Amino acid sequence: MTINKVGVVGLGLMGSGIAQVSAAAGCEVIGREMNDELIAGGKGKIESSLAKFAEKGKITTEQRDATLRRLSFTTSLSGLADCDLVIEAIVENKDAKTALFRELDGIVKKGCIFASNTSTIPINQIATVTNRKADFCGLHFFNPVPLMPLLEVISTKETSSATRDAATEWGKRVGKVPINAPDEPGFVVNRLLIPYKLEAVRMLERGDASIVDIDIGMQLGCNYPMGPFVLSDFVGIDTMYYAAKVLFEETGDELCRPPELLKKMVENGELGNKSGKGFYAGHPERQAELKERLGRFAKR
Ligand SMILES: NC(=O)c1ccc[n+]([C@@H]2O[C@H](COP(=O)([O-])OP(=O)(O)OC[C@H]3O[C@@H](n4cnc5c(N)ncnc54)[C@H](O)[C@@H]3O)[C@@H](O)[C@H]2O)c1
Repeated sequence: MTINKVGVVGLGLMGSGIAQVSAAAGCEVIGREMNDELIAGGKGKIESSLAKFAEKGKITTEQRDATLRRLSFTTSLSGLADCDLVIEAIVENKDAKTALFRELDGIVKKGCIFASNTSTIPINQIATVTNRKADFCGLHFFNPVPLMPLLEVISTKETSSATRDAATEWGKRVGKVPINAPDEPGFVVNRLLIPYKLEAVRMLERGDASIVDIDIGMQLGCNYPMGPFVLSDFVGIDTMYYAAKVLFEETGDELCRPPELLKKMVENGELGNKSGKGFYAGHPERQAELKERLGRFAKR
């Protein structure tokens, strides 16, 4: 099974990165967004990421231009009809994802692999609305996609070995290290990571420690690249909240119960870096405190 043309649905944080690495690996890529403004936003993210790679000498300007030439954009799903692989990276909501795949199933050619980049939703719950369960898998990338090397490949009980192998090989081709992850809520990484981040929020809610103390504690105490609140701003508070909701609904695990603070932040549009309001976003004094106290251990 050769994957030459890739469709990416949703060009937010993740979809723009997935489109970028696919095109950089030589695939023809078509990205779908809801309107022209969102397409321009997705395209802008790809252009600035590629520009940074070129400035740092990680790619040549010819490679940058060739990658951009392999990318096209559409607001219509029919533009994805002849893709060999379609990856969905829209909002973390099962109803939105199933509605999309139900529609795609009637539009895209038979034999095309369908993949979801969901953070938490079991893949079988999404695949079930299509007539191509054998050609359906999870391809879970990490943020920022052009830099993070991991790819979780999730097979359901019905995913064929040909689909799993083709998706895994394609993952290697786009520069990632694939792992086989179980079709369980949160897969491997988020089943471990999300309860940890939620515990940090609960610690804050109880007034046990400050945002900056918690972040310095985990960054320097565990040698993590960043603390849980810097990470939450980076991931998106909305994505984290929706992912926690799915995990809690699916597992009933109290560690996954979405904290009230996250809910309020989402309702107030405090979505982290993407909305300019979050734990650090929109709080320059807190950013300055973190930087100052981390001293020579500050990452940025
Ligand atoms: N943010 C992360 O760190 C991260 C990491 C791994 C996986 N994910 C998962 O990836 C998915 C996307 O997350 P994100 O952070 O990129 O979200 P985001 O909010 O940055 O982007 C989602 C985009 O999808 C678009 N969209 C919504 N419905 C659409 C449709 N029907 N067709 C085309 N576009 C549509 C929206 O306009 C938006 O631009 C989610 O399932 C999320 O859980 C996120």
